[in-house]
Amino acid sequence: MPVLDKLILVGGKRLEGTVQISGSKNAVLPIMAASLLADGTYTFGNVPRLRDVRTMQKLIENMGISVTLDGHTLRIYSQPCEHCEAPYDQVKTMRASIYVLGPLVGRFGRARVSLPGGCAWGPRPVNLHIDGLTRLGAKIHFEKGYIVASARRLKGARVSFDIPSVGATGNILMACVLARGTTVIENAAREPEITALAGFLNRMGARIEGIGTSRLEIEGVDELHPADTDVIPDRIETGTFLAASHLTGGDVTLEKTSPALVNSILDKLRIAGAEITETDEQIRIKSDRSIRPVDVTTSVYPGFPTDMQAQWMALMSIADGSSVITDTIYSDRFTHVAELRRLGANITLDHNVAVVKGVRTLSGAPVMSTDLRASASLILAGLVAKGRTDVSRVYHIDRGYETIEKKLQMLGAEIWREQEKLVV
Ligand code: UD1
Repeated sequence: MPVLDKLILVGGKRLEGTVQISGSKNAVLPIMAASLLADGTYTFGNVPRLRDVRTMQKLIENMGISVTLDGHTLRIYSQPCEHCEAPYDQVKTMRASIYVLGPLVGRFGRARVSLPGGCAWGPRPVNLHIDGLTRLGAKIHFEKGYIVASARRLKGARVSFDIPSVGATGNILMACVLARGTTVIENAAREPEITALAGFLNRMGARIEGIGTSRLEIEGVDELHPADTDVIPDRIETGTFLAASHLTGGDVTLEKTSPALVNSILDKLRIAGAEITETDEQIRIKSDRSIRPVDVTTSVYPGFPTDMQAQWMALMSIADGSSVITDTIYSDRFTHVAELRRLGANITLDHNVAVVKGVRTLSGAPVMSTDLRASASLILAGLVAKGRTDVSRVYHIDRGYETIEKKLQMLGAEIWREQEKLVV
């Protein structure tokens, strides 16, 4: 009988104390893929121990490259790939597997990468990745659910994105650093994870200018070399613990984070009534139990992140009034709404706009994780719901939060993990 983990919470504890924020999932994944660009040994520090990191590790190992993870230090011993392939079984569990496409085409001139398909909250296309690579001279066709790409040495070109896609910017960057001539990426994503990737590629010997802006200019080089780096703090884990603290009227200090990465979230939390003090690598958040209603509209960095939309909704569920939450990045990323309603939240949804009328209390119930950030929002709600909340299918949360239950326990939450037998 299949067994899955679930998390159980008994709500009502005020969070207090100190929590260490892990390295960023979305930053480490493209950096791991970048190691395909040059042979040799790479050492990455502050690597979060997450299911998605293990998936990327397996993907690279399948190509004949050895990878070790010791504590939070990851080493990749890169050499020419035996198979330039990302199989369906792995890509379907992690869309970010598509990050191997750019480096494989850029360096080896061939790649066979499964199409990611949809996810719990709708289709997420890869047209910008494909169009960008085609502009650089790759020949691409689709075969039995796979993207099959081939190229001689890529040629620099102007790649102008309709949407500043994080993944497409990362992929095109990794493809064009070894191209002949100059590439200009217009309307590039400016997310900190892309800035970190570009900085890392420059340490490998790439020549990228305009880092941190929406116009990147890349002068192709003939060869790169390995480099080491520490992974930047996870801004979404940071935001999730900030929301958890405010929700419970807590007093929590977040360490090993970076306030500069979460300005949009800190601004909203201050308006929502939290008292926040920041130093370089720390954030302290203190709250009484009153949560003011605050509208948010997600947008690209430095705007409010879509990856915090579900957690913000959990916070607003018990605010002193109504708020409006709009997701402009993903119009159908709302699978948490039905589950939050099961806990007593009053939410109405019209396309990509949710109206949340704050209620006095939530009450515990069995709920189901549907995706990574939805799971986080259910855990937040469970922290304040009266009685017991069972959050099943937490393999989603393990994709992106390192030992979330242990970190919350250290802050005083009543939360534990159990195995659940699935009746099929
Ligand atoms: C990354 C993050 C994810 C975050 C998202 C938006 C990683 C591993 N994942 O995902 O956590 O939610 O950024 O901040 O870093 N789009 C297209 N065509 C494409 C690619 C994207 O239309 O070829 C659209 C998407 O449907 C979406 C928007 O562009 O509406 C932004 O997506 P994108 O920035 O590409 O997200 P990901 O890189 O997949």
